[in-house]
Amino acid sequence: SAIDKEKRGALVVVEGLDRAGKSSQCELLYKSLLGMNYKAKYIRFPDRSTPIGKQIDSYLRGDSQLDDHSIHLLFSANRWEVAQSIQKDIADGITVIVDRYSYSGAVYSAAKGNPNLSLHWAWQPEVGLPRPDLCLFLSLSPEEAAKRGGYGVERYETDSMQKRVRDLFLSLLDLPHNDEICVIDAGQSVDEVAQDILEPVLECMKNVDSIGPLKRLG
Ligand code: TMP
Ligand code: MG
Repeated sequence: SAIDKEKRGALVVVEGLDRAGKSSQCELLYKSLLGMNYKAKYIRFPDRSTPIGKQIDSYLRGDSQLDDHSIHLLFSANRWEVAQSIQKDIADGITVIVDRYSYSGAVYSAAKGNPNLSLHWAWQPEVGLPRPDLCLFLSLSPEEAAKRGGYGVERYETDSMQKRVRDLFLSLLDLPHNDEICVIDAGQSVDEVAQDILEPVLECMKNVDSIGPLKRLG
């Protein structure tokens, strides 16, 4: 049977720029896994439903102003508040699909260009969070992104910000310890992207035993 009680779940993160199709692909992946009788959950960050998430939501909509460091730490706190429940789900054999995670956290804040907010500084509050077994980076060229219509009205949804975010995302991929990152060409059709995602996810779920227990971000 597809459900193996001995096996832990996998922690699968989907990252990418705004308009790369992350949420649709997470939804498709989630449904595929359930359809194959795997235990799965789909969560997203920011989780706007918690008190911290409501502050983040207000900031993103432009209804409130916050210091760059303060909002950064709120985004991180918003992950820490569910870290234990993620660990429990994984231990219970549930594969957890996460729409944005620490990579978005570090990259968007560092992309603001605040001289006192480096990528290195931005990463520190993420240290110790559950480490993804697999991170799928949905890569979209700026040209392809432009074809997909306008941005929303939220903070960060501007060409200049997205360009800096893209460059920083790509620099993260070069880091030696980030071998769990898999780049997906998000410019393909929805079905092609879904297929390119499903393969490495199933492979990862098959291999979690050899990876060992869930690790932490370092
Ligand atoms: P969303 O569009 O996926 O809901 O994300 C909202 C915005 O928040 C998006 O522009 C990316 C940004 N973001 C951060 O700046 N830091 C974070 O830690 C996360 C998860 C998202
Ligand atoms: Mg958005």
